Amino acid sequence: MKMSDRQAGICAGWIEDASDIVLLSGAGLSTAAGIPDFRGPDGLYRRAGIDEPESLFDIGRFDRDPSFFYGFHRKFLQLFETVGPTFSHRFFAALERRGKLRSIITQNIDALHQAAGSSKVLEIHGGIGSNHCRQCGAFFSTESLKALMAAQTVPRCDRCGGLIKPDIVFFGESVRHLEACQESASEADLFFVVGSSLVVTPAAMLPSFCRGRIVVVNRGDVATTYLPKRRVDLFVEEDIDSFFREVNSHLGLAVETP
Ligand code: OAD
Repeated sequence: MKMSDRQAGICAGWIEDASDIVLLSGAGLSTAAGIPDFRGPDGLYRRAGIDEPESLFDIGRFDRDPSFFYGFHRKFLQLFETVGPTFSHRFFAALERRGKLRSIITQNIDALHQAAGSSKVLEIHGGIGSNHCRQCGAFFSTESLKALMAAQTVPRCDRCGGLIKPDIVFFGESVRHLEACQESASEADLFFVVGSSLVVTPAAMLPSFCRGRIVVVNRGDVATTYLPKRRVDLFVEEDIDSFFREVNSHLGLAVETP
């Protein structure tokens, strides 16, 4: 029996026992959908071929030179038109339907948890679903942003000419729902960290609020600065979808196929 199969059996048992499961998801959860992660071997920051890839999401850089970000965002929005939730997104939606899930805290901006049917989602880094003018605060749907982007390299507000920014949390901006995330984490009896390198704070600090069991599912380095190895009850270094398929072979949840 493979080690990860044994781990899947243990994890399934813990899910059966739990009633307040919290998931902290990262970009690794969406790679199977075709969205690159940031720091994985084929991640965006390696592919970008630029000196300081994190400056892509730096608010100071955005205000000085928005065309830098919009060059990437244009390609990203095209990509998002073709992707859908993975097995693991749907597995956590099934846990919510079972009444097991307290919340999903996601660092992802792709809204794939919601597309899978999850409603208890806290987008700590915001999302691509809405956009606002930096000057007058006017709201723009993603469809209207795309229409402006079709005509301009950098989309400008049609009311005041201000710069429009997607409601993604950039470095230098405050994260969303931090109190709710901390409260959820502290109430969790089973906390999953899935597909995250745990290097970006304050999200990386959230597992340490948990007083219950902690399971990490990630292939690749996971920072231990805020989550020491001794606090992790199960560390699964396996492909995320393969692992949760195996977990579900024990649970038999109805995980809807798209
Ligand atoms: P990272 O790219 O830092 O980490 C993703 C992790 O998932 C890596 O360790 C990968 O090796 C692993 N991984 C990828 N695909 C996997 C698979 N199929 N199975 C198992 N493991 C897999 O992504 P995050 O931790 O989410 O912030 O990054 C955190 C934040 O950094 C992002 O939210 C973003 C970025 O800067 C903002 O944009 C504000």
